[in-house]
Amino acid sequence: MPQRPYVIDQMISAKSIAARIEALAREIKSEFSGADKLVVVGLLRGSFVFIADLVRELDDLDIEVDFLEASSYGDSTESSREVRILKDLRGEIAGRNVLVVEDIVDTGHTLARVTEYLRTRDPAKLRTIALLDKPARREVDFKADFTGFEIPDEFVVGYGIDYAQANRNLPYIGKVRFTDG
Ligand code: IMP
Ligand code: MG
Repeated sequence: MPQRPYVIDQMISAKSIAARIEALAREIKSEFSGADKLVVVGLLRGSFVFIADLVRELDDLDIEVDFLEASSYGDSTESSREVRILKDLRGEIAGRNVLVVEDIVDTGHTLARVTEYLRTRDPAKLRTIALLDKPARREVDFKADFTGFEIPDEFVVGYGIDYAQANRNLPYIGKVRFTDG
């Protein structure tokens, strides 16, 4: 449970998210057109809502869904920087096209490390998509191939994204505003 009292101010509406995902799906379809199967890899847990909406906009592609869990913030709002793989893929990606789906690129450590790890498995093509990007926070040189929205340096929740496990079930993205000063 979060330790400090806060309120949530809406930043990106459910409707805007849905419209953006439709556009992203068109970009992904042109990147992965052709007969090869695409393995869509969701990073647990924050991407679970995004991946659910995204794959349903990719209904004319031949896809499989898999998940990977990397260590994250724990219950704080600061990145730990040291990224570990906590739960590996179930399926094989060697020689296959892979799209890694992430909720937010913040410092960049998570996706930099995860893509480095997945490349050791020899995928045919490896691409990344992040719903949100906070470029002001970047510590390593990493840019997702597809990005939903660039946002300022705010701590956000909702649409799968948590604060100490709370608020994942909000249908929109909101920013956390602490009310104890
Ligand atoms: P990075 O390794 O610093 O790029 O962090 C990426 C991960 O940190 C994301 O997958 C999120 O789990 C988490 N994260 C980054 N920013 C936020 C935020 O504003 N709210 C909640 N989680 C965040
Ligand atoms: Mg995460």
